[in-house]
Amino acid sequence: MTDERIARYIEAAEHLRQGIYDVEIPVAPTDDVGRLGEALQALAHELDRRRAELQKLDQITARINAGLLLDDILDNVYEDFRSLIPYNRIGFSLIDETGGTVTARWARSDQPEIHLTRGYSAPLAGSSLQQIIETGEPRIINDLVAYLQAKPQSESTRLIVAEGMRSSLTCPLIVNGYPVGFMFFSSIHAGAYSEVHVDIFKRIARQLSVIVDKGYLVSELASRQAAIEAKNQELQRLNELKNSFLGMAAHDLRNPLSSIQLIASVLRDRTFPLSEEERTSLLDDIVKQTQHMVALLDDLLDVSRIEAGKLELRYSTLNVADFARQIVERQAQLATSKGTVVTLRRVDEGTLVADPTRLRQILDNLISNAVKYSPPGSTVWVDVCVERGGWRFAVQDQGPGITPEDRDRLFTEFGRLSARPTGGEKSFGLGLAITRRMVEAHGGLIDVDSTPGQGATFWVWLPAQPPT
Ligand SMILES: Nc1ncnc2c1ncn2[C@@H]1O[C@H](COP(=O)(O)OP(=O)(O)OP(=O)(O)O)[C@@H](O)[C@H]1O
Ligand SMILES: [Mg+2]
Repeated sequence: MTDERIARYIEAAEHLRQGIYDVEIPVAPTDDVGRLGEALQALAHELDRRRAELQKLDQITARINAGLLLDDILDNVYEDFRSLIPYNRIGFSLIDETGGTVTARWARSDQPEIHLTRGYSAPLAGSSLQQIIETGEPRIINDLVAYLQAKPQSESTRLIVAEGMRSSLTCPLIVNGYPVGFMFFSSIHAGAYSEVHVDIFKRIARQLSVIVDKGYLVSELASRQAAIEAKNQELQRLNELKNSFLGMAAHDLRNPLSSIQLIASVLRDRTFPLSEEERTSLLDDIVKQTQHMVALLDDLLDVSRIEAGKLELRYSTLNVADFARQIVERQAQLATSKGTVVTLRRVDEGTLVADPTRLRQILDNLISNAVKYSPPGSTVWVDVCVERGGWRFAVQDQGPGITPEDRDRLFTEFGRLSARPTGGEKSFGLGLAITRRMVEAHGGLIDVDSTPGQGATFWVWLPAQPPT
């Protein structure tokens, strides 16, 4: 008599063949036929488990393929791996083109703090990662604390232990035979990894490596795109600057030109009764207005020269004290009409390599601003000191100071701000923008210290030797 269980087993095996794994198999391992049923049942479970695993791997591959940027790809796979490999953190690093260094590109963790972040890099040579590359085999460390005790020089291990990680699985990513990077799985539990996880990783490693490489390329493209974008914005800014030049030149040149025109027609009209003093005063006016126009045109030319990258510095060695005295003397003379005193409070002895014309322009701008924006009759102090391998020029005034809102626009073109000239002087809003560029061309720094209402100290620091 045939055992009816055999018929059930044949039916179950047929189901399994068709890919239906949740089959009912009567299990009573009391005899050989029963034990056969048990084995069949175990086979069905294993097949079902593998099916689920394959499905998950397929899903990961599909997600990886859908991502474009490397970071998106990794964000996508972060959750997906979880049912296959245990972890509380995944890190991902790339090997640079020369193969010399490994740089952390991406990391995600369930833990509150991440210490080993993007940008962390270390040489590959001599590191334990190099061995992983050479063998091509993933490495398991199931007790990171003990590992760190044995290898206290391993900075990256120290960082992930500080994040709370206790075991790790490090997997090489290899494209066309070349190592491109690593994937680090780590867990807050010691002993989290076994060969099973290595096998699982190997099954998707090839796919992952290729995709990572592709993602890497796309990231590169994206950063090039960003550079082009930045260049475009720069061009747009230059175009706007050019337009404001035109508007500004039209406005600031028109007024003096029309007053010169008016004066000239008065002078030409011989029937107009004019005393000798009146005639001289009108001619003086023309001279003053033309000086303004020439100054403005010079400034505009400087700006466009700087913007076109055509500012050429002619360096020479200057005796700083003599140079500063000359400039302060001239500015002090100009300030007398306003009753303002300009004094050289301190000057150190020594030399500086700089472009004298441009340095004069820098100091003239700062001192004339101090005079222009301070109340008549106040004092402007100039200090010139040796500082940190260079020279610091500071101009302190008793004017209104710089408000926090004005600060950001202070050194930009046409930044005419809340402080207005106190003696009817012209204000083009170009001086500090030009000054900043000249200082930067010398490899120096410019800034202002100020408490609003209590004056300002504009300072420039120049290196004793210009950059080569
Ligand atoms: N010492 C200062 N104290 C207070 N405000 C100042 C001082 N120096 C400059 N500013 C403010 O910064 C603005 C920009 O100064 P900047 O020297 O660039 O242009 P400007 O003096 O207006 O014109 P110019 O092109 O003739 O120098 C000024 O309009 C003024 O509002
Ligand atoms: Mg100025």
